Amino acid sequence: MRLSGKVALVTGSARGIGKAIVERFAAEGSAVVISDVANEAAARETLAAVEAAGGKGMVEMFDVSDAARVDAAVKNILAAQGRIDILVNNAGITRDGLLMRLAEEDFDAVLKVNLKGTFLLTKAVSRHMIKQRSGRIINMSSVVGMMGNAGQSNYSAAKAGIVGFTKSTARELASRGVTVNAIAPGFIKTAMTDGLPEAVQKSFLEQIPLGRFAMPEEVAELALFLASEGAGYVTGQVIGINGGLYM
Ligand code: NAI
Repeated sequence: MRLSGKVALVTGSARGIGKAIVERFAAEGSAVVISDVANEAAARETLAAVEAAGGKGMVEMFDVSDAARVDAAVKNILAAQGRIDILVNNAGITRDGLLMRLAEEDFDAVLKVNLKGTFLLTKAVSRHMIKQRSGRIINMSSVVGMMGNAGQSNYSAAKAGIVGFTKSTARELASRGVTVNAIAPGFIKTAMTDGLPEAVQKSFLEQIPLGRFAMPEEVAELALFLASEGAGYVTGQVIGINGGLYM
């Protein structure tokens, strides 16, 4: 039980990687706050499964890019759980398109959810973690934030932005016992990647030395390490989990 007594808030956790992280953290004894902007029924199903296995937590639905809703949600969570030890900024969207056809609103929407959402949550939760003098913040970047990807200039800019944000906040919060790290996944099998054209999936597969895509549970395992006591001396890092796609 590597997270017993902890409370973890994972954004965008109704499905995909976020859901796998919630399940993994709950299995290690953490209370889990399942939060998303959509799919409340799925979030409640996950909570029911956690509770059936003897775990605990709550569902808190909100949009990570809405500052007022973020502040209200963090207050609700603190009132219900008493503390937040782990924040995983996982909520993300894509709006792909080649530069010449990329609409301004698709650029803004992707920056708003992925990057601004990470800023809003980090600000609201770290205020509490600073008082607590401990905390773990894990931000979801992406391999494309480092290597780029045609058709994803908005998304890769947001994910590269998360790297800079992670390093700056790691420096600001280190003296208060709060670590901040980023995970940069490669190609993980979720609804987000299932939506990519088959030709794109095939071309990625050919470039991956390990010769396969990863499952969300493998990302959850890395998040568990970063959230655990054992990662106390790791901060400001970007950890790739990409099958060797980018080294
Ligand atoms: P997903 O699309 O399956 O899940 C993302 C979740 O975020 C959804 O449940 C969605 O409703 C939620 N969400 C979207 N906008 C939101 C908002 N404004 N407020 C709150 N929740 C919101 O995606 P997946 O694949 O699980 O990705 C999770 C994270 O990992 C994302 O940040 C993604 O960019 C990142 N990532 C995923 C990779 C992959 O191959 N699947 C690769 C690299 C990074």
